[in-house]
Amino acid sequence: MTLSASQCVRLERNGELALVVAHNPPVNTITAEVRAGLREVLDAIRSARDIRAIILMCEGSTFFSGADIGEFSGPPREVEYRTLFNAMEALEVPVIAAMHGTVMGGGLEIALASHYRIAAPTTRFALPEVTLGIIPGAGGTQRLPRLIGAERALDFIMSAKPVGAPQAMELGFLDQTIEGDLKTGACDYARSLLSAGKGPRRTGEMRVDPATASDEMFQRLSDQARKLYPNRSAGLVAVEAVRKAAHSSLSEGLEYETALVNERKTSVESRGAIHVFFAERESRRVPGLGDDIRAAPIKSAAVIGAGTMGGGIAICFANAGIPVTLLDANAAALERGLANVTRTYQSMVERGRLTAAEAGQREKLIRTTLDYGDLGDADVIIEAVFESMDLKREVFTKLDAVARRGAVLATNTSTLDIETIANATSRPADVIGMHFFSPANVMPLLEVVRTTHTSPVAIKTVMELAKPLRKTPVLAKVCYGFVGNRMMEGYAREAQRIVLEGATPRQVDSALEDWGMAMGILAVFDMAGIDVGVNVHRANASQYPPDPAYYQADVALHDAGRLGQKNGKGYYRYEAGKRARLDDPEAIEILRRKSRELNVPARAHSTEEIQERCLFPLMNEGFRILGEGIVMRAADIDVVWTSGYGFPRYRGGPMFHAEVIGLDTLLKGMRRYRDIFGPMHWEPAPLLVELVEKKMTIAEWES
Ligand code: NAI
Repeated sequence: MTLSASQCVRLERNGELALVVAHNPPVNTITAEVRAGLREVLDAIRSARDIRAIILMCEGSTFFSGADIGEFSGPPREVEYRTLFNAMEALEVPVIAAMHGTVMGGGLEIALASHYRIAAPTTRFALPEVTLGIIPGAGGTQRLPRLIGAERALDFIMSAKPVGAPQAMELGFLDQTIEGDLKTGACDYARSLLSAGKGPRRTGEMRVDPATASDEMFQRLSDQARKLYPNRSAGLVAVEAVRKAAHSSLSEGLEYETALVNERKTSVESRGAIHVFFAERESRRVPGLGDDIRAAPIKSAAVIGAGTMGGGIAICFANAGIPVTLLDANAAALERGLANVTRTYQSMVERGRLTAAEAGQREKLIRTTLDYGDLGDADVIIEAVFESMDLKREVFTKLDAVARRGAVLATNTSTLDIETIANATSRPADVIGMHFFSPANVMPLLEVVRTTHTSPVAIKTVMELAKPLRKTPVLAKVCYGFVGNRMMEGYAREAQRIVLEGATPRQVDSALEDWGMAMGILAVFDMAGIDVGVNVHRANASQYPPDPAYYQADVALHDAGRLGQKNGKGYYRYEAGKRARLDDPEAIEILRRKSRELNVPARAHSTEEIQERCLFPLMNEGFRILGEGIVMRAADIDVVWTSGYGFPRYRGGPMFHAEVIGLDTLLKGMRRYRDIFGPMHWEPAPLLVELVEKKMTIAEWES
């Protein structure tokens, strides 16, 4: 029987039990409306005399998945959350949170304010706030340590990673798992509590076990926070919040937590991470593609070329449950490709990501063929053969002959002109770039590249296909290098120039990694293969500035037979089978010889200079790309770099970061280095100059 109803929270009765059931699709975010519904239902519960226990649960795919991140930029809501959760905790009858799905942040915090916690066996739990630069702000830092001890609570908050139900029971914040129907199980559980005479068990009335909260532990976890989250302070602030829990009443602790979280929200680290969070959602939206443009359904796919990229792309489709045909030029290549696919699935099984049965099912979705005639059914065909214009045009001519009308014909090219590829077909409107990143089945970024002919339907189809493929799509127009690689040119050019000027590879990579890049660029070249970069630069020489030192560190190493990790020597030396970078005097000597040959003046480099010289050209190129209308919005550039190039999310991406340091600082920096190194590489982007002159922010310019 339904007693009281708001839009998204209702109260059901089952005898002496009251069930508070939320329904706020898709993931039961705790929006203002949900909070209002919960308040209304709590009032109804308080005035009903015959309720003996309360079950809090959600309909749909998950229990409350978290707070409404959209509210972060508005006025603080913590007090509202606190009042609501405290009111729930204060109820005179037992409150049981019955959970399923993915219970994150505020979703877990409401469960911590309940008196008992049960869950379906597949439920996952996380407090991911520190990765957003904040701390759990709805009681998480105060209630969790009361339940499971300070050390375990901090470990959990700091790791920010989800744990499964068995682990949650082991940690001690979950009382029981419920097999079968959750509602029935929850009612049985509630009745068993009542028959055992159990009443409310308020987390807030517990004390943090002092044995888990020593000064030594807090010191150790502070050190861990510095190591895990360099350049950031949310981890350290979480330590402070939990320390408070160990020494204060709940109400004092909650107030302290609120003050900390509100201070955190104004930090660059939090604003940057939240900017990226929303930028990733927004990047899928293409203004101008109205609702009348419908994406074509994708029921089957094909991939041409079973190499590094083709195999990974096929796995993406199989993971999405879309049957895919993999075609290569000969049987040996197909066999190699399929063996790589099998190895990838095996390793996913070994790492516990998939069961063997699931892996088997997915592998079965990948068919192989040597015959273009087998591609007639595919709704989308992605070409990933060698990077050669003649070869790609030949492949697209064949595809034109066999593909069904309306199929999307995509190329994974990194450097070739997609307009020219499209013109090899009689249907350029159906041709588009789908630029995946290696390993294609892992990296989330997908650059979607439209030509002047690509149809709105093809664009919409690919932007929507990104979702089942679990990719973050960014739409761009054709230009050399598209967004990511084009911005990488200047970044990597300077890194190479700096080693020619006398810095060691380690000095350069450490400066970049200390700043926050996931991996120094020279180490990236070693990993990707120095020959790969050299071949690209040789094949496209006409695209680059006439600078005799351009990418010559790569060339020097390459010509000395140093190809990177694959043969154990590149910018660094590697021991067989290991990835640890070892300094190598031989590499340094080769670089010195090259700089003498090219007459590159030696220079002493501060860490700051290395960071500026690599990052300023990167950001400057972002302003060119934006100014030329290659991307739809600046935030798309931030998505490219944070999801495809290891740019730290907590710095918000290159365009966000440019505004953090100040556009005038970037402009002055470009001019300062132009005075030293000349205008060839250091001319500020016209848009950057314009924004500084007009004292405009990027957002103002965009609107
Ligand atoms: P790869 O050399 O690993 O694989 C190329 C595959 O294409 C081989 O299996 C080859 O047998 C096959 N092939 C050659 N001619 C063919 C034909 N006529 N018909 C059918 N199959 C044919 O190359 P990789 O690295 O997978 O690159 C493929 C494409 O993806 C290139 O355009 C490359 O620029 C692009 N790309 C590569 C990335 C990388 O990191 N490797 C990243 C993003 C794009």
